[in-house]
Amino acid sequence: MTFRFEKMSEQHLPIVMSIEKLAFTHPWSVQNFKDSLRSGSIGFLLGVAGQWVGYTVLMPVIDELHILNFAIDPKEQHKGLGKRLLSLVIEFAVDRHFKDIYLEVRQSNVIASGLYQTQGFVEIGRRKGYYPVVGGREDAIVMRKNL
Ligand SMILES: CC(C)(COP(=O)(O)OP(=O)(O)OC[C@H]1O[C@@H](n2cnc3c(N)ncnc32)[C@H](O)[C@@H]1OP(=O)(O)O)[C@@H](O)C(=O)NCCC(=O)NCCS
Repeated sequence: MTFRFEKMSEQHLPIVMSIEKLAFTHPWSVQNFKDSLRSGSIGFLLGVAGQWVGYTVLMPVIDELHILNFAIDPKEQHKGLGKRLLSLVIEFAVDRHFKDIYLEVRQSNVIASGLYQTQGFVEIGRRKGYYPVVGGREDAIVMRKNL
């Protein structure tokens, strides 16, 4: 399979938003993406066979890299693409000499936390009631990978 990676710009936001709305119960707005990209976060898209199938948004904080957003198009999930995109993030972080990668994941999101664990992320804490859910709030698991 041939993969393509491209840095995200605002011109990619229509396709990013079409995936975002399908991938998340509480999606980012287009303004959330614009604000992140304009304030120094870096986005990457993953392409396969001429189609964009996923993306991530990364925020550098001194020597830490924070994964703010990470998604694969639901039609393309369970094919190893999430793992491929996460490998790209790790390679990027190593190349740029970040010390650690951090992320937050909903405690109910066993697929994502399983993916992160297989790539060497470990739980370092919880944020109580961090995420909205229908009818309440849900904890975030905070994970870190030391590079
Ligand atoms: C999380 C997500 C990115 C995974 O993408 P994906 O392309 O389906 O993942 P992969 O096919 O690469 O699977 C990688 C690993 O995830 C885990 N995984 C994948 N499908 C799984 C399933 N059905 N059950 C449990 N674990 C699963 C496994 O650990 C798998 O490793 P393995 O293939 O060695 O078993 C994707 O499900 C997604 O976009 N979800 C919605 C958005 C989201 O939750 N983003 C993360 C926010 S923190």
